[in-house]
Amino acid sequence: MHTARRTEAAEFQGLLLREGIVDRAAHGHRLREINSSFADTGGYQQTAAEVQHGCRVAWRANPRCIGRLPWSTLRVLDRRHLSTPDAIFEACVEHLRLATNGGRLRPVMTVFGADDSRRAPRIWNPQLIRYAGWRLPDGTVLGDPAQVEFTQVLQELGWRPERRSAFTVLPVVIQVGHARSRLFELPADAVLEVPISHPDFDWFADLGLRWYAVPMVSNLAVEIGGVRYPAAPFNGWYMSTEIAARNLADVQRYNKLPVIARWMGLNTRSSTSLWRDRALVELNVAVLHSFKAAGVRMVDHHSAAEQFMTHLDREHTQGRETPGDWSWLVPPMSGASTPVFHRYYSTDAEAGTPRFEAQPDPWRAAQPVADDGAGGCPMHRVA
Ligand code: ARG
Repeated sequence: MHTARRTEAAEFQGLLLREGIVDRAAHGHRLREINSSFADTGGYQQTAAEVQHGCRVAWRANPRCIGRLPWSTLRVLDRRHLSTPDAIFEACVEHLRLATNGGRLRPVMTVFGADDSRRAPRIWNPQLIRYAGWRLPDGTVLGDPAQVEFTQVLQELGWRPERRSAFTVLPVVIQVGHARSRLFELPADAVLEVPISHPDFDWFADLGLRWYAVPMVSNLAVEIGGVRYPAAPFNGWYMSTEIAARNLADVQRYNKLPVIARWMGLNTRSSTSLWRDRALVELNVAVLHSFKAAGVRMVDHHSAAEQFMTHLDREHTQGRETPGDWSWLVPPMSGASTPVFHRYYSTDAEAGTPRFEAQPDPWRAAQPVADDGAGGCPMHRVA
């Protein structure tokens, strides 16, 4: 049991040495220190520098993320000492404000306590900001269909929203150890949102679409050198297709292509009119236009793909292989029009350290983790 974690600890110390975070003398000293800590306590405490580099490398190693170029600029907030739900929630809000930065989004990760004690924290939400979903008596869904189950869990925990809309921000659920989970409402002024309009179609704004600025994944654990941190929310900025080709477009999500196509006057009875594709392009134009108009950082899929190619080159120059999952890296529209489509990626290194790890939803009994929704950075396939 401990041997696997000891091996990972040693592997991680080797990485820190290779990457110039520590020199040879410090490395030897630290290895001895870690070994005796394992012998005495069965584990070890990481330094802030280890946690910081560990988080950056977990991002760099995430095979699903197309946005890894700036991995070494990730800001890491070390909040491992916080032990109450209130303090953890406050730190999440602080993270959100720092990341939002008035629209000039910055990649940030906050690390809360390790799972080596009974008091390990956990954030139940898949992302810090998400919209509720309610199944209505007629079988349709108000809000985000992907959040119907979690919304129901929240209501069982006592959440009573003031009003229900298609874009009602969910409260945050925080649990420490086996204590009761607690609910917190995000302060409205911490949640930046962008109303969606179109540069040429006046009717578009009347669809009432909007999306939040900061994608902050909060249900993945980060594993660093044999230590797991089950609450380690992180954010980057959106690639437009995540919102416009998935969240608002998928049939099983907001499903907005039919109404957009009808407003465009397209023939939705024949799939050969390519009404879906034409509506999809205009929805993407609208999302990019709206984020730009609101001064909120966002990247389009062509630029993101270019940047990823630069990242591959840079990593290659450093003598490192870049793990990748083709089906996540290729954007969900115009795939072959981007360079990421036209090659394959190394798929090993999945189990290396540091890494992000999916974990079972806390409100369900222990069960195997399905490898679908909980993935990494752009989350194209299941957002
Ligand atoms: N795909 C997810 C969503 O649409 C966000 C995942 C993280 N994305 C990112 N650009 N960092 O909400």
